[in-house]
Amino acid sequence: MPNAALSKTPGDLAFEARNRRFDLREPLAGDWHGGHAFQTAFFNALSLSFPSGEKFFVDSVKHYLPRIDDPKLKSDAAVFVQQEFIHRREHQRYNEVFAEARGFDLEKLEALYIREIQRAKKEPPIVQLAATVVLEHITAMFAAGSMRNSRWMDGAHPAMADLWHWHAIEETEHKSVAYDVYLAIGGERKMLRQVMRIIRMRFPYHVFLSICQMRRMEGKPVLSLSFWREGYAFLFGRDGIIREVATDFRLFYRDDFHPWMLDNRELLQKTIAMQR
Ligand SMILES: [Fe+2]
Ligand SMILES: [Fe+2]
Repeated sequence: MPNAALSKTPGDLAFEARNRRFDLREPLAGDWHGGHAFQTAFFNALSLSFPSGEKFFVDSVKHYLPRIDDPKLKSDAAVFVQQEFIHRREHQRYNEVFAEARGFDLEKLEALYIREIQRAKKEPPIVQLAATVVLEHITAMFAAGSMRNSRWMDGAHPAMADLWHWHAIEETEHKSVAYDVYLAIGGERKMLRQVMRIIRMRFPYHVFLSICQMRRMEGKPVLSLSFWREGYAFLFGRDGIIREVATDFRLFYRDDFHPWMLDNRELLQKTIAMQR
């Protein structure tokens, strides 16, 4: 069945992949987030999940592209693939550099996420695409939060803030691509909510495991009160980032949800301008 005009990315949002390369050798050798061990470990753990995760996203969208007729959605998807490819390349390098600089066993750190992807790959393609939609929403909601609140990167090394803002910009630009493909091929909203219920538990759990693994590899105590207190304040405190994204998170459960329901084009343009 033809599926014309199914891209819901705003028509005035022209976007393309930026072929950026980042030299992060110096900051990644230490606690680049203002000397804060938890905050650094938290973002490093996210970075560890990206190379395998972003390949999974691309594969799950590509699987359905032959069924998409809408030229706009097809071209949005092509940019999505390019953007994720470059994110993957830069985060792979990020991970290699920081593992080497800090003496971490990268294979072991990556294995945690690779195993999750292998499990997901056993599911039918539509469930894999639903998982991609869910994770793209989670990514987009953190991207939006990081653009709204400069304090998320307060004290961070400028090169690191630059990398995370670049990633946030592109995640925002392509935030509805997987979702639009999912609806175009007849995916049900109910399945998205079911998959969200699983991923909202499993993803944070894996980030937590990753942080513990890194602590152990560095010979630092996992049960450090000051470390976890800092983590609690950063995530759940009064200005915590989890509180900050809670409203965007809940949008996902609405029957009429669409990623561009949160129209943050203005903020996006401001962040792009700041990067220049
Ligand atoms: Fe990405
Ligand atoms: Fe993405």
